[in-house]
Amino acid sequence: MGSIDTPTITENGSTQSHAAAPAADGDQKPHASANGAPVEMPPESEATKRRRASMLPLEVGTRVMCRWRDAKYHPVKVIERRKVPYGGANDYEYYVHYTEFNRRLDEWVKLEQLDLDSVETVVDEKVEDKVTSLKMTRHQKRKIDETHVEVGHEELDAASLREHEEFTKVKNIATIELGRYEIETWYFSPFPPEYSDCLKLYFCEFCLNFMKRKEQLQRHMRKCDLKHPPGDEIYRSGTLSMFEVDGKKNKVYGQNLCYLAKLFLDHKTLYYDVDLFLFYVLCECDDRGCHMVGYFSKEKHSEESYNLACILTLPPYQRKGYGKFLIAFSYELSKKEGKVGTPERPLSDLGLLSYRGYWTRVLLDILKKHKGNISIKELSDMTAIKAEDILTTLQSLDLIQYRKGQHVICADPKLLDRHLKAAGRGGLEVDVSKLIWTPYKEQS
Ligand code: ACO
Ligand code: ZN
Repeated sequence: MGSIDTPTITENGSTQSHAAAPAADGDQKPHASANGAPVEMPPESEATKRRRASMLPLEVGTRVMCRWRDAKYHPVKVIERRKVPYGGANDYEYYVHYTEFNRRLDEWVKLEQLDLDSVETVVDEKVEDKVTSLKMTRHQKRKIDETHVEVGHEELDAASLREHEEFTKVKNIATIELGRYEIETWYFSPFPPEYSDCLKLYFCEFCLNFMKRKEQLQRHMRKCDLKHPPGDEIYRSGTLSMFEVDGKKNKVYGQNLCYLAKLFLDHKTLYYDVDLFLFYVLCECDDRGCHMVGYFSKEKHSEESYNLACILTLPPYQRKGYGKFLIAFSYELSKKEGKVGTPERPLSDLGLLSYRGYWTRVLLDILKKHKGNISIKELSDMTAIKAEDILTTLQSLDLIQYRKGQHVICADPKLLDRHLKAAGRGGLEVDVSKLIWTPYKEQS
């Protein structure tokens, strides 16, 4: 399966490109050659220069083509602008959203990156919102569907979506240092006001306290006595350990984790009331300690049968199967509770891909081995996956028919094999025999 773009991670000073370039077919602008690279242009006439200068500074809301890090032009919308220090009256930098891609790729760009000849005439924002879907070409629509760029949005009404986007429109913290990684952030996170002027934050990888300066972190590391997340180690297999952290007993840790996670989660409210949650923190352990790889949170009591509130694999560890491991783990806990579960909505684009992959693999593995009929209820009892999620998964794979008022699973072995192949790798296995856990009970 292809890659959905994510920003970069640096380890020991070397930049790894964590991102494949977005497909740019059809996006090339006059200043780009056939392969998208910029080509030498004839000198600009005075008239062209004057026309371009008259557009500046660009208004927030302007739509224009922008040269991305792949050296190709992509459509963007100007979200915010700021004056260039010591620049002229019209010297601005622009914070842009690449309209075909997820908000995690939003960034500040310089004027030179924008193709002023492609500026679209200003459209009334409200009218524009209504007509966006009509203006999109079939090709653009398909691309959005395929990459689920705006997944999660559909479950927020238009007003709350606008409010959310207004408040969180510009990323505040650009990078974080965590353990041996420097990581570019993806989204806004509501850190306390005293951190609002920081572009970079330094996290202690064990207690997750964050600091403004490297020296503060170094001083902290000399006295911090944690070498793993606080709480109980409930699983260990090889170098992999899972810790259960009670938000009530470890409030500061829970809040720090939420601040950190929000940098990579878009449509999630930050829960200050961490008392109500348990955090399952997955670590890779070595002789220096247990290094956080990712986590999921879970409400202690969920009325909606959610078995997972937020899930995150830290960017340096993504695409290695940890996400599927965390998802599988959440269902193993549900099995021990004797309940079915489902993740809290909305799911992000990457969350949906990971869940779809997990559900497909688990359900199709059973269908392949099973002889005779099997019902959705039976599948749900075996897997702890909520019946609705089973139904939508099997429907999306065309394995369900509606006969005489009921859903019937039709599993042609060849079709199952094809879907299983497409569902990607299985991910890291949870060895249930290594899980030592009893469901949460309120202590009096
Ligand atoms: N591009 C394309 N497909 C992807 C990508 C990507 N960048 N990332 C994950 N996938 C898909 C693939 O199908 C992948 O399986 P494959 O590698 O076998 O093809 C599958 O998702 C899961 O891969 P994992 O390696 O098991 O998952 P990972 O450790 O990368 O974690 C997660 C997935 C947790 C969603 C991660 O991307 C993440 O933390 N994202 C940011 C936070 C987020 O969006 N969380 C979900 C929010 S919804 C909620 O919290 C309820
Ligand atoms: Zn610490």
